Amino acid sequence: MLLPDRFEIGRPDNMHVHLRDDERLSLVAPFTCRQFGRAVIMPNDPEILTAGSLAAYERRIRRVTDNFDFRPLMTLKLTHRTTPREVELARELGAVGCKLYPRGVTHGSDDGIDDVRALDEVFRAMAGCGLVCQIHAEQADSFVLDREFDFLPSVLGVLERHPDLKVVLEHVSTAVGAEFVASGPDNIFATVTPVHLTCTLDDIIGHGLRPHNFMCPVPKRSSDRDALIAEVCKPGQRKFGVGTDSAPHDRSQKERPRGCAGVFSEPVALSVYAAVFERWGAADTKVADLERFCSRNGADFYGLPYNEGTITLARDEWVVPTVYRSSRAHWGKENPLDEARGGVEIVPFLAGEVVTWRASSPASSEV
Ligand code: NCD
Ligand code: ZN
Repeated sequence: MLLPDRFEIGRPDNMHVHLRDDERLSLVAPFTCRQFGRAVIMPNDPEILTAGSLAAYERRIRRVTDNFDFRPLMTLKLTHRTTPREVELARELGAVGCKLYPRGVTHGSDDGIDDVRALDEVFRAMAGCGLVCQIHAEQADSFVLDREFDFLPSVLGVLERHPDLKVVLEHVSTAVGAEFVASGPDNIFATVTPVHLTCTLDDIIGHGLRPHNFMCPVPKRSSDRDALIAEVCKPGQRKFGVGTDSAPHDRSQKERPRGCAGVFSEPVALSVYAAVFERWGAADTKVADLERFCSRNGADFYGLPYNEGTITLARDEWVVPTVYRSSRAHWGKENPLDEARGGVEIVPFLAGEVVTWRASSPASSEV
């Protein structure tokens, strides 16, 4: 049984995205704003360590997203220098959460956390003022396929010591991680990326090296991917929601001997989620379950009202561009040897491939 050829769902939220800064911000932000009413903005690049820098970053984001009906939901990055007062200040300025990166686990985490217990006072302040704790749940020094599993005891410790703190296990990537969340208490939730719902490690290193599919946590076995699909598509499931973890890097940072982790998945995100639900959702509830996953679960967990308006998904095949360029890169192309002209080139997820669904918002979302 297929999805209808055209249908609407409530305007979705993206509970995990990297918008970057400057030229990259201008290039990538419209992809988020066209599909999502709100997005939780990650604080690793640019690095956001204080309430003041959070407010300034929010202003820069608002400047380039002004034409859209869009609200950035800001976060602070936790380090061992973060104080309870700083997180309360961030809350006063409208932040929704604080992100915990274990030290060295991914891009922009060199000053991350190596002792989760040392944050207990900060966690208490967060719970007290209603901030969510977003966790990149990977044990940095473990074997790469075991990193999520090995970090789950640390997440469990946080949940047990702080039953009033809302915790998001970001970009869940394993069957055991999905089970941990599905069977966990009400204060744990997970975001799921389009990459982890469709790829395995084979799509990165199994058939030639494909750096543009490389992200942290790495997609794992097909049994892990299938377990994520099963949880996400389960009728009535409320503990999993959209978080694309779209993480753009310039092509030169991906195609090099030690390339950056991060997949620019935003342009195809809703198309991929719809395709997954069409293929695997329960026959009679596909649209309602897709809408719950995209537009309700995240808002419910964060305690936000649903967005106004809708987005339309239409069965309309399109070829994903092989690269997105900032306008400066276009100029630079006329003279490719002139590196000083700079410009950004970002290769998206599924570059050059055909996707089935096209998401479009009514004109009113671009105001
Ligand atoms: C992210 C990035 O590039 O900022 N990369 C990634 O592989 N997901 C950081 C992160 O969320 O781990
Ligand atoms: Zn991320």
